[in-house]
Amino acid sequence: MTSSDGEDQAARAFNAKTAERYDATAYVSAADPMLDLERVIGLGALYGCGPDGAPDVLDIGCGAGVQLERAAGQTTGVLVGTDISRSACAAAQARLSAYAGRARIIASDILDLDPAVLGRFDVIYCVGVLYVAPAPVRRRILALIGACLKPGGVAVISYYAGGMGLMRAELNRMIRAAVEPGQSLEVRLDQARFFLNDVAGQSKRGDPGLAAQTAQQSATYTDGPTLLHEALCEEMRALHTTELQAALEPEGAGFLSYMHGMPYAGIAPSSRRAVGADIFDFMWGGYRYGVFGKSGGQGEPSAAMVQAWTTVLSRQAGGPAFPIPSEYRAAGGGGVRVVQPLVQAALDVMGRGAMPRARLHAAAAGRLTEAGLVVPDGAEALLDGELLKLWLAGGASPLWLGA
Ligand SMILES: C[S@@+](CC[C@H](N)C(=O)[O-])C[C@H]1O[C@@H](n2cnc3c(N)ncnc32)[C@H](O)[C@@H]1O
Repeated sequence: MTSSDGEDQAARAFNAKTAERYDATAYVSAADPMLDLERVIGLGALYGCGPDGAPDVLDIGCGAGVQLERAAGQTTGVLVGTDISRSACAAAQARLSAYAGRARIIASDILDLDPAVLGRFDVIYCVGVLYVAPAPVRRRILALIGACLKPGGVAVISYYAGGMGLMRAELNRMIRAAVEPGQSLEVRLDQARFFLNDVAGQSKRGDPGLAAQTAQQSATYTDGPTLLHEALCEEMRALHTTELQAALEPEGAGFLSYMHGMPYAGIAPSSRRAVGADIFDFMWGGYRYGVFGKSGGQGEPSAAMVQAWTTVLSRQAGGPAFPIPSEYRAAGGGGVRVVQPLVQAALDVMGRGAMPRARLHAAAAGRLTEAGLVVPDGAEALLDGELLKLWLAGGASPLWLGA
């Protein structure tokens, strides 16, 4: 669907205000290690995506360039950031000055970006933008991603999904109604915080589930930038993964997964995975990093395509070499009981650091043999399948080791 002139004009006026807002109050969050190139491309590899050489990276709405700077240390490829806020662009430019030969920051409204000028990229980030932008900008972002993603490329888009996202959008709408638009920024933020306290207090008298959810949502509003750039943003809305899938599909891109594994990742093709994500998000939705890939998104995920695996789990029990079952726990909480000795051996090996897949297979089988245990028939396929399940459960992550 294209924009009408009126809708386009309203979006441009909104974008100009957005630029003023970000010029006045810088948004500088920390880069997220979860979005490191080795993780994003590693996840893409599960679905057959992957760069030919050193990945080229585009960040749409790059802000102060924190993620792009982090990516700069992880690739020798081209780095392009775009933002409408001139002060954000100046900050990004300064941050990336050490990479001036291959980094470019473009100050522009997304509505004016031309894919032919931007180029083609292996990884595209769009974080903190899509769900707070008017409809013409949302459509333009998705069109740019579709056009600028190389075959085998992956895009990470952040958004609120599902029921929890709807609740958050509703909460934001109420916050906006509760603050006085004419007041100074400080006063508006105070009014928003006061309102959130009030909501949390009131909700304790109602349904305990709702109270817990409200408290959980309210707790994430502690910082001024989130309140300012999200809660007070009239265009903030929850999005469905299927909407993004539908926009990207004609460009040959499809939904792969969230950065966190999700239980529908075993489904193919990508359109059905996106439906699975919506169903999951209806109950458990929230802030997502959706990963979309070009040309790789139609197939079954295959652990065999992964170059390396890492784990957050470590073995709990002492005693014999292969107790069955054996507890593996993550430092931050949670864990699994592992029955299959081959998987135990693999986790023990991965626990010492990221492990290339081929070496992992050999090392795990070697440990079994040393312990006098039989390596099962079809060990490779068995281990690949179990690692995929562990990834879905959050216990293992696919990594890309670089070109
Ligand atoms: C919440 S910040 C996120 C910045 C960065 N991606 C990060 O995660 O730190 C959103 C950024 O998107 C930019 N932005 C919003 N609407 C835009 C538009 N229409 N064109 C270009 N940039 C836009 C803002 O200027 C701001 O820097």
